[in-house]
Formats: sequence, C-alpha cells, structure tokens
Amino acid sequence: MTVLLTGGAGYIGSHTALSLLEAGYDVVAADNCCNSSPESLRRVEELTGKRARLYQIDVTDRKALSRVFAENEIGAVLHFAGLKAVGESVEQPLRYYRCNLDCSLTLLECMAEAGVKNIVFSSSATVYGQCEPPVSETSGPLVGTIPDGWTKLMIEQIITDAAAADPGMSAVLLRYFNPVGAHPSGRIGEDPQGIPNNLMPYISQVASGLRERLTVFGNDYPTPDGTCIRDYIHICDLAEGHVKALEYALEHRGTEVFNLGRGEGVSVMEIISAWNKANHMELPYVIGPRREGDIPVNYAVASKAERMLGWKATRGVEDMCRDAWNWQSHNPRGYRE
Ligand code: WQD
Repeated sequence: MTVLLTGGAGYIGSHTALSLLEAGYDVVAADNCCNSSPESLRRVEELTGKRARLYQIDVTDRKALSRVFAENEIGAVLHFAGLKAVGESVEQPLRYYRCNLDCSLTLLECMAEAGVKNIVFSSSATVYGQCEPPVSETSGPLVGTIPDGWTKLMIEQIITDAAAADPGMSAVLLRYFNPVGAHPSGRIGEDPQGIPNNLMPYISQVASGLRERLTVFGNDYPTPDGTCIRDYIHICDLAEGHVKALEYALEHRGTEVFNLGRGEGVSVMEIISAWNKANHMELPYVIGPRREGDIPVNYAVASKAERMLGWKATRGVEDMCRDAWNWQSHNPRGYRE
C-alpha cells in the first residue's frame, strides 16, 4: 500500500517515512519544504534502500495535491503538514489559521475526491491546556491555549465531523507530548531554523558550541526540583507509534484519539543530568525567568495506545539525549551541510 505523508520531509515526517518503509509500505511525501529539507528523505532512502517520492508542493494548492492523488494509488494519509512554532503562532495568528486549516481542508477534499478513506492526524498534547496531569484522552476541557494549539483542536474537530459524515472513513488523531532525539544512525534528526524554541534542540546547539549556554526557564515551579516537568518521547518510538496507528486505521472505522507519550514526567534539570551522563559532558546553563505560557507539569496517561494499538514507547531519556547528540555532532548545520 502507498501512504501519503503531508509534511513528510519534516522532523516527525521523515522519521515516520523511515518506519513505514521498513514496515513494507510505499511512501509518497508532499511538502513545501518551508521548514524542512528534501535531504531528509534522500537520507531515508540511503538508510532503507527504498525511495520516498517527494512532491515539493504546498498542500494548500488543490491542483498540485490532486495530481499527487491522481499519480499514486494512495491507501491512507498521515497528515503532518502545517506551521508549528508556538511563539510565532501568537505573533501571526491569521497566518497560522489560514495555513493549517486551509491545508487540512484541501487535503480532506482531495481525499474525498479520490475516495481515500483513511487518515492519521498529527495533533498535540497542547490541546489539554491546563488539565490536571497525568492527562488521558478523556481529560478536558480541551483548549488550544495559543493559535497553534487551537488549529490542532479545530482540525481534530474537522476530521471528526468528516468521518462522522462518511461511514467508510477512518481517522486516528495522535496527541504527541514532547518528541525529541533522532534516528540512531545520526543521518536524520531535528533541524530547527533559527534559534530553537524547544529544549532538546537548544541543548544540542549549546553542546556543539552554537549557543553559549542553556537558560533554564524558571526553577521556582511547584515541582520537586523547581523546573517544569514534561513527557519526553523518543522520535523513533513516536514514528513506530504512527505505523501502529495506521494499522489500526486500516482495520477500523470512525475516529479514535490516542496519546503518544511515555507516561512519565521528566524535569528540565533531569534532562540536563541525563544529557551529561549519556554524552559525558557538563552542559553550561543558567537559571532564568519563567517563560510566558509554560505550565508546571504535563505528562500522559499512555495506556490506551498500549491497549488498543499494541504500542508502547521503549526508549529512555538517556537514549533520547545520546541520539540527539549523535545527530547534532555529525550535522552541526543540520541538512544545510
Ligand atoms: C520544554 C521545557 C521549558 C527551552 C512544545 C509545544 C508542544 C510540542 C512540544 C509539538 C519547558 C523548558 C525550553 C529552553 C527551557 N510541540 N525550556 N529552556 O513547551 O513543553 O512543548 O513543544 O507537538 O506543542 O508546546 O516544549 O521543549 O519548548 O519546553 O528551560 O531554552 O523546557 O520551559 O519547561 P513544550 P519545550
């Protein structure tokens, strides 16, 4: 079966493409590469010996996307495409709503026109807002908190309604916690543009000397060591979770939501310690002020995915740190080598 990955050249898309190819699927990607590089999929082919054909198009371009469906026997779609920078979405809300909703609506229209009934959507734990952790798929109320998160919640609703109107449709909504790390080969990984917003890529750039030191955003939170707690999940566990989600979508109808997390909270200071232990270094850091919008604790109840998808994350925090450093140290300028 051929699977279409929108945003397939990106961090999560390229790792998922690799897992799908290894599982025996054929993969086609549609990505405008505004936040990614075609090099990622070239390296996926190097690693798997199989090609993921890339259509370098904008998923909002109905004509171009229809051509992808016309030229390939697509059996299912994994929808990653969209803008996702938290801070940027607050500064440019209209651009985020236009881009993320437009590409999702265009995709669903092309799927309906081509008779493709199976979709897995890249959602986010952001939708849980301030829910009391650990959060399960039934936690609520769901809120987007910021425009990026609201687009995730709106797209979940759009897909849910589309599936309710078409009994033959199958939709799986995956709420990611904090994806980090890289494929152990060090050939594909996270390649943020500009100054990284997220913790792990920032730490990686400090370790490689691109940044002077890490600023820990607050150590006065109501947590054991005062720093925020998150549910970090290795990108390869996340990618493998998508293969299981696709299998579930192909065997069921209707819409189902799953958390993809480890179900374990880890603090910023614990990440720093794990990084130092895994990579035999002393990461320079300072304690700075809290970051606007951060919540003290967020981690998953991860049991539903284990029960219904037969998937559970297996890699630990030191694996994440080791693989992140392996990628960064071999690719200090990401794919812009
Ligand atoms: C983690 C912790 C920071 C940087 C975001 C999105 C979420 C998801 C993952 C897509 C926090 C602290 C960070 C730094 C720091 N994206 N930190 N210094 O905010 O939990 O989640 O990315 O699915 O939608 O909201 O991740 O990595 O930015 O922060 O101290 O330089 O690290 O305060 O406690 P976050 P993050």
